[in-house]
Parts: sequence; C-alpha cells; structure tokens
Amino acid sequence: MNYSYPPDEILFLFLYWRGLRFIQEVLGAIRAEVGIDYPVQLRVSASDFSDGGLTPAEVALALTYLEAELDAVHVSSGGLVPAAPLATPEGYQTPYAAMIKQYVQIPVIAVGNIRTQALANFILADQMADLIAIGRPLLEDANYGEKLLALA
Ligand SMILES: Cc1cc2nc3c(=O)[nH]c(=O)nc-3n(C[C@H](O)[C@H](O)[C@H](O)COP(=O)(O)O)c2cc1C
Repeated sequence: MNYSYPPDEILFLFLYWRGLRFIQEVLGAIRAEVGIDYPVQLRVSASDFSDGGLTPAEVALALTYLEAELDAVHVSSGGLVPAAPLATPEGYQTPYAAMIKQYVQIPVIAVGNIRTQALANFILADQMADLIAIGRPLLEDANYGEKLLALA
C-alpha cells in the first residue's frame, strides 16, 4: 500500500494521534518526576527527509498538542534516513524553528551551524527563535562560550 491513498492516510492519522498520546504520557511522567520548576524541553526533527515522513507543518501541529507539557521546543532535522541533505550552511535549520514558532507559544530553540554572534543576534532580533543552541563549536573549543561573551 502506497502512501497518499485513503487507507494509508487513515492509518497514518491513527498512528499520528497514538504517537502524540504516547509522547504526552511520557512528558506527563517526566513532569510528575521533576516537578513544575524543572525545565522540560522536547527536541524535534522538523523533517525526517523520508518519503511520506513527517513534514515541518505536521510537526508544528503536533507541538500545539504537546506544548502544555513543555517549557521549550528545540528544533533540529533529519535523524532517521540517510536522505538528509549533506550541505549544512550557516543557520540551515533556523527556517524550521521560525516556522514552528508561528504555531506555538513556548520558547523555540534554534540550532545548526550557528557559529557567530552576529548570526545568533540576527535570529533572535528577527524573532525566528527565542534561544540559540550551539553544539560542535563547543566540542571544538571548550572556551567558545567565554570567547563569545567577551565579544558582547
Ligand atoms: C555526528 C553528529 C551526531 C549527532 N547525533 C545527534 C543525536 O543523536 N541526537 C540529536 O538530537 N542530535 C544529534 N546531532 C545534532 C546536534 O545535536 C546538533 O543539532 C547539530 O550538530 C547542529 O548544531 P551545531 O551545528 O551547533 O553542532 C548530531 C550531530 C552530529 C554532527
């Protein structure tokens, strides 16, 4: 059965809502454990880049049902299939964060080759995201954060 046919679409919706409920239950259990003052974030792949896989709009819609359990959402992409684009230019995932930010009230974290203070400030000023996450630069240089602060 191919995707985009009614039986598959119904099955997909069924799995989608069941999946949402599963995540809600997991988040509820985490919240019960850590309490109200502990920040709980969810990291999402805005697109898995697979045929018939989740699209950014579907992920954004799902988040509107999950955000009550969350303090922030962290927007990445890829992860499941090797079809993900190899090129990762500066801020390559930020458009996903900006799109998801249109749907949710909670803070949105952008990540993905955000290496300069100028780009980080631009993303924040343009309200594409509320927070910036940095991965590999911190692995490359343990003093990276201090160096950025020194520029401030
Ligand atoms: C080799 C490699 C493995 C990664 N594995 C994961 C992973 O297992 N789970 C995850 O959420 N992100 C994973 N990421 C994504 C990073 O957490 C981060 O989003 C990505 O490196 C982009 O941010 P950066 O450019 O600041 O490093 C991985 C990234 C790289 C380069």
